[in-house]
Amino acid sequence: MSSHRSIGLGVVGSGRMGTHRARLAAAHPGVEYLRVMDISLEAAERLAKTTEADAFGDDLAAVIDDPRVDAVIVSLPEDTHVDAVVAACASGRPVMVEKPLALEMAGGSKMVAEATAAGVDLRVAYSARFLQKYFVGRDHVHRGQIGQVVGGWARVYSTRAQGLAILRRSVHATPVMDVLTYLVDLVGWYVGEDVVPVEALARGHGVVFREHGFDVDDVTSATLTYSDGSVFGFDVCYMLPMGFPTTGQSIRFEVFGSEGALLIDDDHREQILYTEQGHQNAYAGEQEVNLYFLGSQSAGEWADGRMFGRVAEETRTWLDYLTAGTPCHLSTGKEALVTLAATLAIEEASRTGEAVSVERP
Ligand SMILES: NC(=O)c1ccc[n+]([C@@H]2O[C@H](COP(=O)([O-])OP(=O)(O)OC[C@H]3O[C@@H](n4cnc5c(N)ncnc54)[C@H](O)[C@@H]3O)[C@@H](O)[C@H]2O)c1
Repeated sequence: MSSHRSIGLGVVGSGRMGTHRARLAAAHPGVEYLRVMDISLEAAERLAKTTEADAFGDDLAAVIDDPRVDAVIVSLPEDTHVDAVVAACASGRPVMVEKPLALEMAGGSKMVAEATAAGVDLRVAYSARFLQKYFVGRDHVHRGQIGQVVGGWARVYSTRAQGLAILRRSVHATPVMDVLTYLVDLVGWYVGEDVVPVEALARGHGVVFREHGFDVDDVTSATLTYSDGSVFGFDVCYMLPMGFPTTGQSIRFEVFGSEGALLIDDDHREQILYTEQGHQNAYAGEQEVNLYFLGSQSAGEWADGRMFGRVAEETRTWLDYLTAGTPCHLSTGKEALVTLAATLAIEEASRTGEAVSVERP
């Protein structure tokens, strides 16, 4: 039997993800103290009311200096993770930060270096790992059921409602850096830490995001070669029209081995809701549809006061790990840095048309 302990939690960022995380934490039996924070005091106060948090504010230092806070979740926009993660790591507290770790190597390396120096367990929330289909699939691959992994294909699409919501939050959070990154993380998790991406090839094209003022491709198609010779194709398209019925990520994930194949259909077309009343996308409110793929909301869904799906499973797993010592398969900071290097190489390969070596962190 594992021993249980209660913890105090600080949630930095009270936006969409911070709200999910704080609500889940408030319902977790191991969390006895909750402090929420946001640069917007109004957002922090709103979340504190929703979760009946013990404290809230707009000052990061107050979270770090709070002796009742034992662990920190950083749910901030992609380009603002560094200060909060470095401060939390320097204070010796375990950290879970939203993906991607950063949008450039300097910031990502700084966070991992600080965590390593302080002996802190830094985890990065690549939530797709927490869907049953990817977890079970990986277990079969690791047990050798498809033989030696030779390569595969992974693609993800969504509507421009999602893409624009992300770009408006962080202008450099392109579909490659912000979304394809999940698939690069999944492949890295499948092939194991000893096998790393070494070279990127890519092409991209776009008109829709540019019409909206963002110099970003709508469609990118990339190939990563790994250190064991395996080759994976990665494709992303985040500009489907607003009326298209996905409200999050629709994914295909396929791994081929010398003795078999793993084919995962994560398009969400098996669960459809039609309503004359209109359904508003919880993440990108601009999108209102009558027919939609129920279950396509990336983070997961709330129903009757409970959250289901990958972010719920992920948050509970991390909190269980901290409070009861149970296993935790969240990406480590070091794994996330390898993923960051690979996505940056894909961006450069797409921009230059050249083969690009993936930086070794
Ligand atoms: N795992 C998933 O399924 C998933 C889904 C969506 C987003 N994400 C990731 O979560 C992160 C946050 O995304 P989001 O949708 O919650 O964004 P959001 O814009 O809804 O929330 C971000 C919050 O951070 C606050 N903020 C901004 N700068 C700050 C600062 N310096 N200090 C304190 N507060 C600050 C904003 O006021 C806002 O309330 C991103 O890294 C994103 O990629 C993950």
